[in-house]
Amino acid sequence: MAGPGRLAVLGAGHAGPSIARLAIKAGYPVVIATSGDPEDIALITELVIPGAQPRWAADAVADAGTVVLAIPLHRFLDLDPGLLNGKLVVDAMNYWPASDGVLKPFTGGGSSEIVARRLAGSAVVKALNHIGYHELEDRARPAGTPDRRAAGVAGDDPVAVGTIAGLVDQMGYDPVRFESLRAGRVLQPGGPVFGTVLTLPEFERATREDAGSLA
Ligand SMILES: NC(=O)c1ccc[n+]([C@@H]2O[C@H](COP(=O)([O-])OP(=O)(O)OC[C@H]3O[C@@H](n4cnc5c(N)ncnc54)[C@H](OP(=O)(O)O)[C@@H]3O)[C@@H](O)[C@H]2O)c1
Repeated sequence: MAGPGRLAVLGAGHAGPSIARLAIKAGYPVVIATSGDPEDIALITELVIPGAQPRWAADAVADAGTVVLAIPLHRFLDLDPGLLNGKLVVDAMNYWPASDGVLKPFTGGGSSEIVARRLAGSAVVKALNHIGYHELEDRARPAGTPDRRAAGVAGDDPVAVGTIAGLVDQMGYDPVRFESLRAGRVLQPGGPVFGTVLTLPEFERATREDAGSLA
């Protein structure tokens, strides 16, 4: 199976740099972008994400095999879906009304399903959204480490899910696959694993019990 290739991380706030550093550590070329001029983040990128290249978002995406969306969901609504056409897209975003405001399309459902509907020309995988940025790096461990933690990977395209599961594994987490974005709702705010950093058995128990409670 082909790997994720070059990663373009959109968003250089809290989550984006953590994801970028883990991907670089895993051996991937990484470019990073905000909505603005890459010159504005050149120095900070050099200091806090050594190895990452700041680019304009469109250029970053054009050269990438995989695009990680680490931008606020309300800003996603302004993003041109055509930019991401044909790309494997990791949706690391969450609907967080306290900072996003109330976004009508995202109330009462799965945010990644709506993201995927908007990005009809992309393969969307939900991942890297449910662990806080500081813990995401602190808790990352190589495969086989006894206290390794788990991270969910959900999507409707099994090949895309497999690719991102491999990336998540290389970034330091036991990947737990969900066979649809619908099933991946367990990863979003209000779900049983959101904001937690669980071991694989704990993660599986929590999501199983949640599925049981919905049955
Ligand atoms: N914070 C966490 O621990 C964490 C963990 C996992 C997932 N997440 C999710 O990740 C998303 C971002 O959270 P955050 O805390 O990192 O937000 P943040 O600190 O506010 O950073 C957002 C970043 O996105 C950039 N951005 C906005 N619109 C953009 C666009 N169209 N193209 C490229 N970059 C753009 C912003 O730069 P400009 O405004 O300069 O463009 C900024 O660098 C949220 O949905 C959040 O739920 C957060």
